Amino acid sequence: MAPSPSSLPTAISSLLLLLLLAAAVSVYSSSPVLEGGIRVVSAEKRIDLTGSIVKVFLTLKVENAAAAPEASQVLLAFTPTEFERLAIVKAARAEGRRKKKMYIPHAVKASDLAAAPNGHRLYSVLLSSALKSAEVTTLEVFYVLTHSLEPFPAEITQSDPQLVYYRDSAVLLSPYHVLEQTTYLKMPSNRVESFTRVDPTSRTGTEVKYGTYYDQLPNSYVPILVHYENNYPFAVVEELVRKVEISHWGNVQITEQYKLRHGGARHKGVFSRLEYQSRPSISGLSSFKNLLARLPPRVHSVYYRDEIGNISSSHLRSDSHKSELEIEPRYPLFGGWHCTFTIGYGLPLQDFVLESDDGRRYTNLTFGCPLLDTVVDDLTIKVVLPEGSKNPQAVVPFVVEQHVETSYSYLDVVGRTTVVLKKKNVVGEHNVPFQVYYEFKPIFMLAEPLMLISAVFLFFVACIAYLHMDLSIRKS
Ligand SMILES: *[C@@H]1O[C@H](CO)[C@@H](O)[C@H](O)[C@H]1NC(C)=O
Ligand SMILES: *[C@@H]1O[C@H](CO)[C@@H](O)[C@H](O)[C@H]1NC(C)=O
Repeated sequence: MAPSPSSLPTAISSLLLLLLLAAAVSVYSSSPVLEGGIRVVSAEKRIDLTGSIVKVFLTLKVENAAAAPEASQVLLAFTPTEFERLAIVKAARAEGRRKKKMYIPHAVKASDLAAAPNGHRLYSVLLSSALKSAEVTTLEVFYVLTHSLEPFPAEITQSDPQLVYYRDSAVLLSPYHVLEQTTYLKMPSNRVESFTRVDPTSRTGTEVKYGTYYDQLPNSYVPILVHYENNYPFAVVEELVRKVEISHWGNVQITEQYKLRHGGARHKGVFSRLEYQSRPSISGLSSFKNLLARLPPRVHSVYYRDEIGNISSSHLRSDSHKSELEIEPRYPLFGGWHCTFTIGYGLPLQDFVLESDDGRRYTNLTFGCPLLDTVVDDLTIKVVLPEGSKNPQAVVPFVVEQHVETSYSYLDVVGRTTVVLKKKNVVGEHNVPFQVYYEFKPIFMLAEPLMLISAVFLFFVACIAYLHMDLSIRKS
């Protein structure tokens, strides 16, 4: 934190803040009781701050009161800021002991309950089996927050490390009464500039522990701020358009257009390539010069280019499970710098286009972005189906915006049905298979060759006609 010139105003403002907090807590503890008599017996929140994306693992032991009706859902609360930055929320029930632990996933959806105070937004974990009265269950919740590490200072030179702020609450924000709770923050190194103390608070090496706190009223929130060094590459794909073209003649062609930005502290001053290359351990610590893309196995005809042309500095490693493409932009990326590029590759049709039991065909590809450890602000996937395809239907395991359009390419008569899927705030956890089902009559495969044949045929007819025509102005 920046040192303040006088500590008196700070003291007064923090006192005011405390009073406000106390008032807030007392008002909201009388908020309407949510479904069932749920309370959190114990909660452990582990926040992973080592990357550019914040990952939170929450273990909640919840109990339904003895006289309460069955509960079918457990609510999770987020502040409005967190809600905006939330990329994914997953929940599972842990079953069995230690080694034989199994995780049974629960559905999670944004809740329409508007009862949360302070504009807090709720998600509900829909329990796969209702929680009866006096029953206890343990939920494992995992969520990802993007753009939640604020570089401070906001501008650094080539030789400065990158420091960031992270804000959260020492106690668990929850619509329920929390009996016992701890929060752990994991930093990438032990260079921690400062952290808010909310006793008991302790630090061991790279980890800061808040709590154990007891008996927290519903909707308690105690703001904390940590300031620490984080030189992880903050790779942000501002926009990614992935185009998948299916040809029943044996190929799936994928073209991906990237608009990439280094989302960390902005670079100031001049960039010295000499210093960058000669002292890599202290120069440009938070910059990055290569990225790894995980592509499906058996890719072929891989290319990587930008507006200038092909970039040869890419390496492809392939085995039977996956292919890894390491790409190196023309210059290292420093905070605030941009680059745009295109990756293209072909995939064997039989691996990715299958026939379903009802006779329809479907594509089975991976959603999300193949670049590892990046956040995509705006993702568009266009699946261009072969000409003559009908009734497309996309199956994606989370909410996406979708529509159907028609696109044209060479020799097309009626155009190709194209399924467009859009999603904002996409992270690695979104890289899961998705399907696009469609109806296709094999006779349409003949359309293109027939067009070609008739074109050639017409050409010859025209030639013959021309040769047989007497166009000369000759006197007979
Ligand atoms: C770029 O590379 C691709 C694939 O290797 C190749 O097909 C294309 O002709 C190359 N383009 C240029 C301009 O070199
Ligand atoms: C899609 O492919 C994945 C493997 O990449 C496989 O596990 C999954 O079962 C496939 N889904 C369908 C519906 O074929």
